[in-house]
Amino acid sequence: MNTSPHTLKPPADTANPPHYVLTTQELAYICGCKPQTLVKSFNKSELYHLPGGKLGIPPLLVRAYLQARGVDYSFMTLAHVNMRGGVAKTTSTIALATRAAQYGFKTCILDLDSLGSASLAFDGVPMANDLIFHDIWRDPKQHLPAALKRIDEFLYLLPSSLDNGVLDTELREPQHQRDAVYNVCQALRQSGFDVVVIDCPPALSAVVISTICAADGIVIPVAGDAFSFSGLEATLHEINTICQTFTLELPDVRVLPIRYQEHEKVSAHALEKLREDYAEYLLPVQVRSSTLFDQTLEMRQSVFANVRKSTAREDYDQYVCHLLGIGVHQ
Ligand SMILES: Nc1ncnc2c1ncn2[C@@H]1O[C@H](COP(=O)(O)OP(=O)(O)OP(=O)(O)O)[C@@H](O)[C@H]1O
Ligand SMILES: [Mg+2]
Repeated sequence: MNTSPHTLKPPADTANPPHYVLTTQELAYICGCKPQTLVKSFNKSELYHLPGGKLGIPPLLVRAYLQARGVDYSFMTLAHVNMRGGVAKTTSTIALATRAAQYGFKTCILDLDSLGSASLAFDGVPMANDLIFHDIWRDPKQHLPAALKRIDEFLYLLPSSLDNGVLDTELREPQHQRDAVYNVCQALRQSGFDVVVIDCPPALSAVVISTICAADGIVIPVAGDAFSFSGLEATLHEINTICQTFTLELPDVRVLPIRYQEHEKVSAHALEKLREDYAEYLLPVQVRSSTLFDQTLEMRQSVFANVRKSTAREDYDQYVCHLLGIGVHQ
């Protein structure tokens, strides 16, 4: 395995940076060194000149740099699941996928919600001839290359539309539920992807059962209200039941507190309850409430599409680093 950043040439056109690119400051922070020192590790002609005088690092070079410092790029399937709606499954999917791509993980978003919110967020709503999960799950190896939409150098999307509604009928057989999402993920693995991020609908549909069977890690985003707690309980119960039914190993299940408001009593109580009752699942990160999520969605962007500081970026970056095993001062 070649891990030297000096010997890898990015296929990048440095005059046209990708949408999702890590800055030298960000990588320096992760690695606990000064940006000026870090820049010396790269050939300057390979870096992107970003607005505001910042330098962007092509994902392939970030990958080589972090791999040399022990970050593991082994394949994994991560899913955002909650039976409850509106709890930031899609927001978390977008943030995780775009940031993972910046860290040099070749990432594919599997949009499995027939409302296609993640597809819409990337302006990737499928046209009449575009392939979606329902068209490809029986023979993913053959169909995936034509089905995937390229969003960025390291970021791809399998879009979704209302036509995926037929999956509840198509995946009636238990073995289809067990294998459909798994087989698509394995085909993605074989074609060189490192991470698959799945966005699920807020229901216990066949495609969610299939996702639970396929995922290495499941993150349940939870807001601080009573409805969210009942959604969390129901989701945990279903994950356990499905894995027992199919005699599968339990995935790594994590709970992500979202819409957290530092000075609000309700948020403090919710976090306390999560710490008391769900300590084994609770991530050491809270995503604070921010209007930036709605604003960026409106612009068909992720909070990681620009380099402006915000709590939204800060919180989701911590979340992504935790999930992907990227330590500060790597
Ligand atoms: N931390 C946050 N602070 C404020 N608003 C947020 C936060 N996270 C998400 N939102 C907003 O909440 C709304 C619902 O988020 P999102 O669509 O991601 O939820 P979802 O779980 O995918 O919903 P559904 O179950 O309907 O698919 C969106 O308008 C999003 O911008
Ligand atoms: Mg959603």
